[in-house]
Amino acid sequence: MNFYIAFCVLVSCAFSVDSAIINTKTNLNSELSNKIGNFSVDFIGRTLASEAPNANLIFSPITLWTVLGVIAEGAAGRTLKQVCDVLRIKPEDRPNVRATFRTIQKYLVVTTSTVELKKLNIMFVDKKLSPKKNFSNISSAYDVSFAPLNFSAPQQTADFVNQRVNAFTKGRITELVNSKDLLQSHMILTSALYFKGQWTYKFDESSTTLRPFYDSNGNKMGEVNMMTNRHTFPFANIGAIQARVLELPYGKENRLSLLIMLPYPNVSVKDMFNNLHNYSLDMMFGDIATSVKEFPDDEIIVYLPRFKIESELDLTGSLMAMGVRDLFDDTQADLSDMVNVPTYVSKISHKAIIEVTEEGTTASAATSAIFGNRIGSTRFEVNRPFGFMIVEKTTNTIAFSGSYNKPQLY
Ligand SMILES: *[C@@H]1O[C@H](CO)[C@@H](O)[C@H](O)[C@H]1NC(C)=O
Ligand SMILES: *[C@@H]1O[C@H](CO)[C@@H](O)[C@H](O)[C@H]1NC(C)=O
Ligand SMILES: *[C@@H]1O[C@H](CO)[C@@H](O)[C@H](O)[C@H]1NC(C)=O
Ligand SMILES: *[C@@H]1O[C@H](CO)[C@@H](O)[C@H](O)[C@H]1NC(C)=O
Ligand SMILES: *[C@@H]1O[C@H](CO)[C@@H](O)[C@H](O)[C@H]1NC(C)=O
Ligand SMILES: *[C@@H]1O[C@H](CO)[C@@H](O)[C@H](O)[C@H]1NC(C)=O
Repeated sequence: MNFYIAFCVLVSCAFSVDSAIINTKTNLNSELSNKIGNFSVDFIGRTLASEAPNANLIFSPITLWTVLGVIAEGAAGRTLKQVCDVLRIKPEDRPNVRATFRTIQKYLVVTTSTVELKKLNIMFVDKKLSPKKNFSNISSAYDVSFAPLNFSAPQQTADFVNQRVNAFTKGRITELVNSKDLLQSHMILTSALYFKGQWTYKFDESSTTLRPFYDSNGNKMGEVNMMTNRHTFPFANIGAIQARVLELPYGKENRLSLLIMLPYPNVSVKDMFNNLHNYSLDMMFGDIATSVKEFPDDEIIVYLPRFKIESELDLTGSLMAMGVRDLFDDTQADLSDMVNVPTYVSKISHKAIIEVTEEGTTASAATSAIFGNRIGSTRFEVNRPFGFMIVEKTTNTIAFSGSYNKPQLY
């Protein structure tokens, strides 16, 4: 029988709020968060490599890590070994990983007036099957809940799953699973992450203008609605990854930020992300902090396209390229710690949406002299392909990542 994994991810970054940042950075820097970071960067590279070079993409490395963590708890033999290798953990370390991950996950739930980050992990299981007790128990460490369904009625099952996801994402993701994918299937693991954040420093909607967007080599590709803002945003020029990086914080807590990574001219987004193999997020935040210390009063004049990206990805290929093979092979997969019947994973699909806008700015937003120029100001003009990451800074978790290569009017 097969096992279908669908997960969806939604990011909506709209609205803005004017407030001082309360600096509460307590670094929860565990060995595990470094491993997750290492996994995430590898996964980003593979996914960019397997998609069309001009695509706009969004995906959630941490959500995939969570899904694989749950699978590892139900796997045995070579399947377990392959999944653990990709997770950068040892099978015997799973109890420790579980405990640490529980702590990391706590930081991935945020509910304040300005930032909302929440997750939903559900395993829908055919009523005829019962997951093993230990597996159900252990999965609770990953916040997975179980829902029994009648898989003999695929359309009804798909509708039910889609309704849950639809409600969770507030109507943004309406069709995560398709009844055709569920034929012969008896389990669906869904994992969804929802993020909505208000900018700490707002963009003024009335300053948004149509502007050209170029390819990496400077040829005009089209136009975008370019938002603009100026502030002493954290910023660094990072030679090691051949990019300039700007941090746009959300909310008041200084915990979640959008990092815009703008490659040097003639450097592709893919190559820039590949440079991250040799350069950790810690180092990036370190370089940003150093740069802020050196130029504390420098204003950054930001030009950033208003954008929305929707991605639907089949991650099976990326995972196989990373070494997870047996899991997808009906003759080799060993999920014997999960259920009593032979099971393999038929597909891992992923849906994600991100919206980045200036919307919600109140009338009092009219910022002064947006286009003024003064000594000590730097232009950060995002008018060519760029990469981005939404990072939870306490744990250095890459909640979402992606690339914007093709201009669109949004
Ligand atoms: C389930 O988990 C709880 C708490 O982790 C533990 O005390 C209990 O022994 C576990 N039960 C089984 C059947 O493993
Ligand atoms: C369930 O977990 C407990 C505690 O980790 C272990 O002692 C027991 O052998 C497990 N049972 C099965 C059937 O795997
Ligand atoms: C499950 O769905 C099938 C097909 O619609 C139906 O024949 C069967 O009675 C249902 N079983 C249960 C337990 O609801
Ligand atoms: C980028 O490439 C174009 C065309 O290949 C070239 O004309 C331009 O000088 C290059 N720019 C930089 C900064 O290297
Ligand atoms: C992950 O860690 C290994 C071993 O430390 C290193 O060789 C590799 O380059 C790292 N990969 C990424 C993507 O950071
Ligand atoms: C990157 O890797 C090269 C060798 O591959 C090494 O010499 C260099 O120190 C590394 N850079 C960083 C920032 O780790």
